[in-house]
Amino acid sequence: GEALQTYVLETLNKDNVIENTKDLNNADGQPIEQLTLLGALNSLKSKDMVDFTFIDREVWFLTEEGEQVAAQGSHEARVFDLIPSGDEGMTIADVQAKLGEIAKVGQGKAFKNKWISKKGGNLVRLVDTIVDQTQSDLQQIQKQGGHSDAKLLTDLKKRKLADKQKLTSYRVTKGSEFALEIKKEATDITYEMLQTGEWKNASFKKYNFDAVGVPPTGGHLHPLMKVRQEFREIFFEMGFEEMPTNCFAESSFWNFDALFQPQQHPARDAHDTFFLKDPATTDRFPRDLMEKIRVTHETGGDTGSIGYNYTWKEEDAGKMLLRTHTTAVSSYMLYKLAEKTKAQGAFKPAKYFSIDRVFRNESVDATHLAEFHQIEGVIADKNLTLGDLIGFMDVFFKKMGMDKIRFKPTYNPYTEPSMEIFSYHEGLKKWVEIGNSGMFRPEMLQPLGLPSDVRVIAWGLGLERPTMVKYDISNIRDLLGHKVNIAMIKEYPVCRLDKKMGKELVGLSK
Ligand code: PHE
Repeated sequence: GEALQTYVLETLNKDNVIENTKDLNNADGQPIEQLTLLGALNSLKSKDMVDFTFIDREVWFLTEEGEQVAAQGSHEARVFDLIPSGDEGMTIADVQAKLGEIAKVGQGKAFKNKWISKKGGNLVRLVDTIVDQTQSDLQQIQKQGGHSDAKLLTDLKKRKLADKQKLTSYRVTKGSEFALEIKKEATDITYEMLQTGEWKNASFKKYNFDAVGVPPTGGHLHPLMKVRQEFREIFFEMGFEEMPTNCFAESSFWNFDALFQPQQHPARDAHDTFFLKDPATTDRFPRDLMEKIRVTHETGGDTGSIGYNYTWKEEDAGKMLLRTHTTAVSSYMLYKLAEKTKAQGAFKPAKYFSIDRVFRNESVDATHLAEFHQIEGVIADKNLTLGDLIGFMDVFFKKMGMDKIRFKPTYNPYTEPSMEIFSYHEGLKKWVEIGNSGMFRPEMLQPLGLPSDVRVIAWGLGLERPTMVKYDISNIRDLLGHKVNIAMIKEYPVCRLDKKMGKELVGLSK
């Protein structure tokens, strides 16, 4: 590289201009490869040391067969040469045996040129000497890279003996910074250059804005997290605050007891719940709240309820588990809200949401995993009614393009009334379940210590199914777990929950 650049500069210094680099030989008299030269010229031009323009030309060259003809003669000439003069001639079989596959074409052409003819089954000469024009034409092309007879060239091309090629060479002149010595250019300004003042005299390499950039490295959000971000935006847009759901391990107390879920409830069963072995239990929950919850479970306390009429056990509430729903965090947050209300002497409405992981010991199949993500929303305000819940659901789901929403009564231990949320699926032409909701019961709210006129509405839905629809994944194991293809996380595009998508999302329950 460097040696060639210097050679170009020295030649320019001597001759002032290089008219055509195709005629430029290197110091050893060898022709210079034009592509290698282009590298050197570009490098010199970037420093304004030279300038150059392109010279395009057409060069004819011989094909492999053409080279052979140029060296050994045309097929017809070789047939002629082979046949001895005289009436005897040579048998066709002999010509064939000596010349192989070129014999047939050669014979045909030699007949046409009236060089040979057939006599008594043998091939004999008709003339004493011939001129092999094709061979001398090809030899000339080989030497000069072309021929003055254009028709001849097209003819030889048709016969696949010659072809043309475009070659580029250059006309080189001195540039504004022409010099014999190539100065090293700095690519970056460094700390040392600043300190020594060297930067003032340094010459800097020009930026190449056409260079292919280095793809930025960095993290990639998992598709579930991309969809989560979209839901998050909806909540933030509606004035919600995100709940701290970063702790997967929870006590039965917050997951069940605080939600007025009786201790013999089947959902607590080891069939559904992953209980922890270490630590297996905790007593780290508020004692005064625990006493109120005990009374409410046993007799209803002063909530107006008769309770469940069983003996509540602290040891059951202390069992550690992997939370089965994010409502465990909602109950804790409402307790905190009650504490804040007491401390400030006034109640302020609250809107909370969370989107995070929950765990259930269910049989795993193409659409179910033992862990999944719940989207949960909670609103606490004075005198909220079921109408507020229904109205709010309408707004929330409309933001995802689901505009036909219906409700069906259901049962949750902690909400009354409770409603399953259905949306109309245009494709399936039927109503499908998309979530669960309700108004938290007084048996849940009153022990937490919220003012008695505060009502709390809440709802939940799953994150996996919207994600699977959005990214066209049919098996949940391709989305989560040890079989996931890591590359897909990099490659999947950003997520937009547009209105059209909402239509597809209908039918996505937890
Ligand atoms: N926790 C419920 C579930 O896991 C969802 C729900 C949340 C229902 C809030 C009512 C109110 O299915």
